[in-house]
Amino acid sequence: MKRRVFSGIQPSGHLHLGNYIGAIRNWLANLDSRDNIFCVVDQHAITVDYDPDALREGTRQAVALYMACGLDPAQCRLFVQSHIPEHTELAWLLTCITPMGWLERMTQFKERVGPRRERVGTGLFAYPTLMAADILLYQTHEVPVGDDQKQHVELTRDIAERFNHKFGEVLTVPEPVIPQVGARIMGLDDPMAKMSKSATGHHHSVALLDSPDKVRKTIMRAVTDSQQGIVCDPQRPGLYNLLTIYQALTGLGHAEIETHFAGKGYGDLKKELAEVVIAEIEPIQARYRELTADPAYIDEVLATGVERLRPVVDATMDAVRRAMGHR
Ligand code: AMP
Ligand code: TRP
Repeated sequence: MKRRVFSGIQPSGHLHLGNYIGAIRNWLANLDSRDNIFCVVDQHAITVDYDPDALREGTRQAVALYMACGLDPAQCRLFVQSHIPEHTELAWLLTCITPMGWLERMTQFKERVGPRRERVGTGLFAYPTLMAADILLYQTHEVPVGDDQKQHVELTRDIAERFNHKFGEVLTVPEPVIPQVGARIMGLDDPMAKMSKSATGHHHSVALLDSPDKVRKTIMRAVTDSQQGIVCDPQRPGLYNLLTIYQALTGLGHAEIETHFAGKGYGDLKKELAEVVIAEIEPIQARYRELTADPAYIDEVLATGVERLRPVVDATMDAVRRAMGHR
């Protein structure tokens, strides 16, 4: 039996290098040896203000991009969260055994809510229980995510353990899998802030669908410092971030990278990095164009994904409902 992997990405905005390096590439790395389930989490995307048409469009775009990155539907089950209503059913059941204190400790919530606490939707607060439901519904072993989601996967473990303790051994307790390089790619315009889909700066991120010209401009303008020399030093966050992207995409080690750039400057590094990034995303863009030219194919992949997940969903929900006294 292969170990089961589950992960997801929100369809809000364009997928960027952080999503690719922190998440998608690590899903691709183990496709053969795992039982893979990947989801576009459109119900997480409604926890903040959004536009329904943009969500509909973004969801399809995300599915096509998943496939364009190499997530072959023959090797994984791809689907959209809202197409399987049991995600929200299980989320409610788990919400009822999740203490408020656990959710109040979530750093992502604290960061996102800021001073708007009175006004944000309850869904933003309960968001991690929906994520726990996504993972636990499939009896997942491994959850490959970027560093920012580690706390949510740990919370999922706590919720699963609490459930099993209260109602009997029903749920598999999952593990977070965090990449060694690139678990937290920073904004190119601000190396102290995580690269994120919601940031508004024009030169903040490189999206997987950016044109070569845009990629060059964004990387050439990346914020660094006024020091000299290309060394892998976390104390120089702007430079370190560029080198991390370079390292993740080339597979070279720190020493090799430093030797390669010995005697060179930031301009040389940025020029070369831009070409490395472009070489990585151009084939993805070509496949994306092919895939989006045939919308019926994407619909078919999604419908098949749901069909192939049905038996797992029914088995987990049957066991959960019985254990909780609803059957
Ligand atoms: P999101 O864009 O929040 O839906 O994130 C989808 C996946 O990408 C999750 O596994 C995140 O941990 C990962 N991710 C998002 N932003 C970054 C980043 N800046 N660096 C590394 N991983 C990221
Ligand atoms: N919350 C995750 C994020 O914003 C996305 C997500 C939702 C997810 N459900 C998941 C990731 C289940 C892994 C497993 O990045």
